[in-house]
This record gives sequence, C-alpha cells and structure tokens, in this order.
Amino acid sequence: MEETLTKTNTIIEEIVTGMKSTPKQLPSKYFYDEKGSQLFDEITRLEEYYPTRTERKILESNLEDMADKLGANVELIEPGSGSSEKTRILLDRMDSIKCYVPIDISGDYLFKVADQLREEYPNIDIEPLATDYTRPFELPDTHPDARRIVFFPGSTIGNFKLNTVQRFFSVIADIVGKKGGVLIGVDLKKDIEILEAAYNDSKGITAAFNKNLLIHLNRKIGADFNPDLFEHKALWVEERGRIEMRLYAKTTHQVKIDDHTFTVEKGEYIHTENSHKYTLEEFSGIVSPWFDVQQVWTDTNKLFSVQYLVPRI
Ligand SMILES: C[S@@+](CC[C@H](N)C(=O)[O-])C[C@H]1O[C@@H](n2cnc3c(N)ncnc32)[C@H](O)[C@@H]1O
Repeated sequence: MEETLTKTNTIIEEIVTGMKSTPKQLPSKYFYDEKGSQLFDEITRLEEYYPTRTERKILESNLEDMADKLGANVELIEPGSGSSEKTRILLDRMDSIKCYVPIDISGDYLFKVADQLREEYPNIDIEPLATDYTRPFELPDTHPDARRIVFFPGSTIGNFKLNTVQRFFSVIADIVGKKGGVLIGVDLKKDIEILEAAYNDSKGITAAFNKNLLIHLNRKIGADFNPDLFEHKALWVEERGRIEMRLYAKTTHQVKIDDHTFTVEKGEYIHTENSHKYTLEEFSGIVSPWFDVQQVWTDTNKLFSVQYLVPRI
C-alpha cells in the first residue's frame, strides 16, 4: 500500500514537472494501459503506417542470416515488448532461443501475452518482467550460460532523446556483456509527406492513441484532463530530425493534477512523443561508444532498417 502511494507520488511529480515546462510535455510511456496497447496494435495495421509492415518484411526475409548472427543458446530480452508480434517471427524459426524475457510497463497486457506465448512455445522459457525499463531493473538469472540478445524492434529507440539514448545503450551494454548482441529496428529519414501521413492517419486511430494518454493519467493519478478539449497533430521538425506528436488545446481551460492547477491556453500544445529518424551514419555514430554495427538489413525503398550491434571491447 505504502509502496503504491510512493509510486503514485513519483508519477504525479513526473507529470507536474512536465506540465510546468515550456512547452508543456507528458511522458509517452503513459500512452500504454491496456487500451493504449490495443490502439497501438491498430496503428501498426494502418495503411499509412509503413514502419511495422516494413520491419516485419525485413525480419521475415533475412531470418537465416539473423539467426547466424545471434548464434546458439540465446536468451532473448525485449524491452517494451507489447504484443510480442514481431518476436513471434523469431520464436517461430530460431531454435537457438531458449528463453524469452518480454519487459513491459503495461503489466496486465504483458502477462496476458506471456500466457499465450507459453501455450504457443512450450519449449521456450517465457519470463515476463513488468517494469519501467528506463529505471533500474533486475533480469531473471535462470539461464546464466545463455548469450543475452536484446531485441528492440519498432524503432522505439527513436522515441528517446539523445541523452536517454546514450543512457539506454550503456545499460544495454552491461546487460548483454561481451558475448551478447542487440537486434534493433531503426526508422530512417525519408520524405516528409510519408512521415507525417504515418502519424496523422485518416481513421483517427493515432489521435485516439494520443488522447488515451490523458484518459490513462486521469485514472492513474486522478488528474482531470478533458480529451475532447484537445486536438491531435503530428509534425516533422527538421532541425531536431524527428516527428513530434502534440495535443493542441481547442479552448483556454484548466487542468487539475493533485493540488496543482494548470491553465492551458487556446492554441497551446502539450508535447507527448518524439519519433527521431536517423540516417545509417547518424545511428552508427550514436551507438559507437558501446557498439559496432555489424550488419544492416533494409527494404528496397530504404524506409526502415534492422541492425545487428556487437559490443565494442
Ligand atoms: C510501440 S510498442 C512496441 C511493441 C513492440 N516492441 C513492437 O515493436 O511492435 C511500445 C511498448 O513499449 C512499452 N513501453 C513504453 N515505455 C516503456 C517503459 N518505459 N518501460 C517498459 N515498457 C514500456 C509499451 O507499454 C508498449 O507495449
């Protein structure tokens, strides 16, 4: 009980800090309650949203090559595993995977997915971990001899700011050790029209996903955001090399969070997510303090890449 209270207070602090900044911002990890995870799955099936189908195709077309790189006796660790849909492509075809550790902040959804996976893959040890992977966490120690491979698809790395990317790779380098590796999906720079359409879909699913952040926070910390008073918009910000998801206020109004009251002016926005896009050169520069890019697989249109990173020793 006390622990839950401390946790709630930590989240309130995080949200209040974000609402006090200019522009206002809210952490994207709170998109994901069960509804948010379902909406994200819907996004991945949208016509405009090229990343998921492109990454799947790259994985499916290069599985043997990837299995060679990953080697034998693998413990596969996936931070932010969601529905584990793409992971199934690996679990289906790579006998070398002995253990799978899906990690997700959305605990209910994670355990539901883990139960399904246990049925589908009785020979693989499934060890779900419900935690926030941006905070320190301990991995299960059930396969001490396995090679630890971190699987990080979906270009989730693009959601991190530069300083968090660096902290993330330093933690991952410790996790995988000298004999491990990282299989990572990285979205590439491309035409602005393709990028903006992917995050402003015509069915409004991304808008619902963006606003679900507010609904989730209302439930989680007792805030009183009115999602109907906001409008979703995603736009490419050239100088930062990223798509920014924003919620624009339609009218001036107030939002209460704990004992704080915030005024949101008409036309003001709350920044909710970044999706950085990289060139291959930019990305290899970012990981270079910890990892070498050993192999890059892309699609014919060079929209997306899957990369295998090995620790620099
Ligand atoms: C965009 S989905 C990606 C799912 C999957 N890896 C893929 O590529 O299809 C992101 C997932 O990461 C989880 N997530 C986001 N931030 C997280 C955090 N800080 N700690 C743990 N899980 C997180 C969300 O709950 C969600 O299921």
